Amino acid sequence: MIGTATLTQFNIHQQRKFSATRGELTLLLDDVARACKSISHAVNQGALSGTLGASESSNVQGEVQKQLDLICDELFTDALIWTGHLAAMASEEVDDIIAIPQQYPKGKYLICFDPLDGSSNIDVNLSVGTIFSILRCPDGVETPTAVDFMQPGTRQVCAGFCIYGPATILVLTSGAGVNGFTLDHDVGEFILTHPQIKIPEDTAEFAINVSNQRYWEQPVQRYVDECMQGVQGVREKNFNMRWIASMVAEVYRILTRGGIFMYPVDNKEPLMPGRLRLMYEANPMSFIIEQAGGMASTGRQRIMEILPDDIHQRIPVMMGSKHEVERIVSYHTK
Ligand code: AHG
Ligand code: MN
Ligand code: MN
Repeated sequence: MIGTATLTQFNIHQQRKFSATRGELTLLLDDVARACKSISHAVNQGALSGTLGASESSNVQGEVQKQLDLICDELFTDALIWTGHLAAMASEEVDDIIAIPQQYPKGKYLICFDPLDGSSNIDVNLSVGTIFSILRCPDGVETPTAVDFMQPGTRQVCAGFCIYGPATILVLTSGAGVNGFTLDHDVGEFILTHPQIKIPEDTAEFAINVSNQRYWEQPVQRYVDECMQGVQGVREKNFNMRWIASMVAEVYRILTRGGIFMYPVDNKEPLMPGRLRLMYEANPMSFIIEQAGGMASTGRQRIMEILPDDIHQRIPVMMGSKHEVERIVSYHTK
């Protein structure tokens, strides 16, 4: 099936295997894929569209929004809000949840999304992406509120991200492994190119923003120190380091060749429990990483078991090759 199955064909095959599903998720994923194609096009236009650079607004987290953050948020929302598959949406770029307007039917799913991850990379022409997490709307809830989104990551029905790099690749899991689909721009379809992705359990590559080193907690200091000591240290091997400042690019690299990605809690801003957001960054990426045989933790807890208390909640993140994440978790418990 590699190189021939489109995303829709693949999802219909999956749907037939699991007779409990009735095709609504396949239709929703088609709409998500269409949204990602529009975003891919907008990102590819670069300076031609005159949309590089910052906008005049900030999001709920006080971050200045790029013009493309807002454009991609609108593209994703517009592609999904009318479809009848969703009961409500939540975006990194919007303070409150996004209700489905009266004129459209409501569906049984909730979606949380980061329309443009790594957007600091836009102006320097490096990889960015879109991340999403699909939850079920609780039974009997007609008009969901933020409380209905407060479900642990273990309840995700499906999660995915689309990376806009040299190639546009959509990576998905619905709990039966992880598959990657490359956008064939000529045909306009995502084609299965990376079936059943597995992360190597061991690695010699780590990713962390070392400029924050002086603010890290002791277990993270220890882990990174030991990697830096290379063959002379306790790890007895040399490590390599990468930092792209784009979680989608880091996670895609880890899915391809292994590694560990960390954005730990630090005391730079003592009131901020980490940098990344649980609902639309950490949870979907954790679902993908675990389904590919890796591990995802805050250092003290499995990310997907956290009971959220806010749609924009932040948490520490350590994810990737299983044996490395196990090691750093053990440093937290010792
Ligand atoms: P976003 O662009 O959606 O705000 O996310 C950026 C995130 C993540 O993708 C990346 O790993 C991290 O922030 C980069 O942080 P630094 O600026 O500290 O490098
Ligand atoms: Mn992001
Ligand atoms: Mn973003």
